Amino acid sequence: MKAILLAGGIGSRLFPVTLGVSKQLLPVYDKPMVYYPLSVLMEAGIREVLLISTPHDLDQYKRLLGDGSKWGINLSYLKQEKPNGLAEAFILGESFIKNDSVCLVLGDNIFHGSNLSSHLKSAIIQTVELQKATVFGVKVNDPQRYGVISFDDKGNPNEIIEKPKYPKSDYAVAGLYFYPNSVIKIAKTIKPSNRGELEITSINQIYLNEKKLHLEKLGRGFTWLDTGTHESLLEASQFIQTIEKRQGIKVGCLEEVAYDNGWISKKTLIITAQSLGHTGYGEYLLNKYSEDEN
Ligand code: G1P
Repeated sequence: MKAILLAGGIGSRLFPVTLGVSKQLLPVYDKPMVYYPLSVLMEAGIREVLLISTPHDLDQYKRLLGDGSKWGINLSYLKQEKPNGLAEAFILGESFIKNDSVCLVLGDNIFHGSNLSSHLKSAIIQTVELQKATVFGVKVNDPQRYGVISFDDKGNPNEIIEKPKYPKSDYAVAGLYFYPNSVIKIAKTIKPSNRGELEITSINQIYLNEKKLHLEKLGRGFTWLDTGTHESLLEASQFIQTIEKRQGIKVGCLEEVAYDNGWISKKTLIITAQSLGHTGYGEYLLNKYSEDEN
């Protein structure tokens, strides 16, 4: 399984903050936003990741993340010349995906919940063994901002509409998707929407029509955060700060996930921790190592 992390867009709803810096590089409390979705991919056990961004932002991502070796993963990079939509990722990434299945995660989506790994495992089984696509549905109070799933009388998904004016349900589709290799072919057949983009929702609707779409509902106790507006970005930082302070854990800590996965050695963990200086993040990693020693 490969993964594409999309970190493009102009972040217009966050102007003037995003006039000089890519949205997904902005901090969410104590780390760059892009760490959070990348940590989800790593938690899913995916080590081959392609990051797609705009031509002028790509170098900053390379500077931040490098080739991924300090987390035991393989990161490569690709430009999206124009904002042609999320679904273009599969066309641009064809030679990276090759014959594999692929996960797509949006660089501004933050997921947190103790059962995340079991949801990810379930999605991987659906994709690899059953050749189905998986989307994640989350109840929200402003569904019109998202792709929205509606259900038939039996509670089965029957339609997904992108940013509907009058949503038929409260279930938004989160920015994390798993697809079998057929997604490349499908992406090439869809047409741009009214906003001129190749929509991920069009791809999901095709899988749904073919009865090959699995919906994984993320229920109570699971948090999916949005970072699209100044308010939601601030709230996301506050949420992460509250959890990290109260529980003494870190969310989206790449070194921790890599170490727990057995992808990096203690030595690498310590070198990274020391390179971060006297920060809460660096100290957290050093403590993790010493806890592990005892
Ligand atoms: C995109 C997708 C939408 C999805 C959302 C999740 O919206 O088009 O279906 O619900 O991500 O973050 P966009 O960020 O392009 O507005």
